[in-house]
Amino acid sequence: MFSLLAALLLAVSAQASVLSVQNARFSLTGPKSMPLRSEPLSLLYAASPPIEVGPKDLLKLTFQIVDKETGKGVQPHQTFLRFYDEQTREEGIQPVRVTPGGKAKFELNPSKPPLSLPPTPEGYPLNVTIIIGSSLYEPISAPLFDLVLPRSQPAPVDPLEAAFHPLPEIQHTFRAPHKLPPRFISAVSAAVVVAPWVVLLGLWSQVAPSPTRLFSPSVLPFVLCLGAFEVLLFWYWVDLKLGQVLLYGAGLAIPTIFAGKQALSSIGNKRVGRK
Ligand SMILES: *[C@@H]1O[C@H](CO)[C@@H](O)[C@H](O)[C@H]1NC(C)=O
Repeated sequence: MFSLLAALLLAVSAQASVLSVQNARFSLTGPKSMPLRSEPLSLLYAASPPIEVGPKDLLKLTFQIVDKETGKGVQPHQTFLRFYDEQTREEGIQPVRVTPGGKAKFELNPSKPPLSLPPTPEGYPLNVTIIIGSSLYEPISAPLFDLVLPRSQPAPVDPLEAAFHPLPEIQHTFRAPHKLPPRFISAVSAAVVVAPWVVLLGLWSQVAPSPTRLFSPSVLPFVLCLGAFEVLLFWYWVDLKLGQVLLYGAGLAIPTIFAGKQALSSIGNKRVGRK
């Protein structure tokens, strides 16, 4: 229990460890090492005015990274300078080598610029930020200075860039609805289609003998059974599977057989005049 607490305390204190950047300063020298400007840097605000580096100048940046509590030099896992152009939103990240004693030196020679520098065709100032990352310390990200570099070639256009532009919005077009003929013509056509049935039913009613015994008690069960078959087939058409239809049909067949036998014998009896 005690060791766990101690480990926790250690973790908390390790988490809270803070780095500090000391003796940060830059020096700008012109052609033939003529000193132009040399100032200490603070991590609290960017040096002003912006540092203007001519084509033949040399900018040197030095600093030391120390543990704020012990004052000992620290070599963090990652140390970067970030160059950011607010106008074009181009940025470049330049790793900085730090010695085990925490000392770091960075030189910028515009005639041999590092590849990570964003292009500055318009000569906008770059915001230079220092970024320090370490697993044992709080991270640091602080502005150092603004930097005006000589104008450079514009950034080359990536050949793939053309493929990464928004395409025109896809507008869904639905097929135009079918054109319907005028209502009157539809109605006349429907009447023509239905007319033969009207004629047929009308003539049938003249010639067909009316089913007199359809509803007599001895025939009605058979008629109901046949109706049930019709319902079953309709149900099959709507919903049922063939196996179900065969099963229900087999069940229905048994009463139908008896009802049919009874109906036929009652009709037969009527025909021959018995009873
Ligand atoms: C970046 O640099 C420009 C020019 O010096 C300055 O006006 C601007 O405030 C800087 N931006 C940041 C975020 O420091």
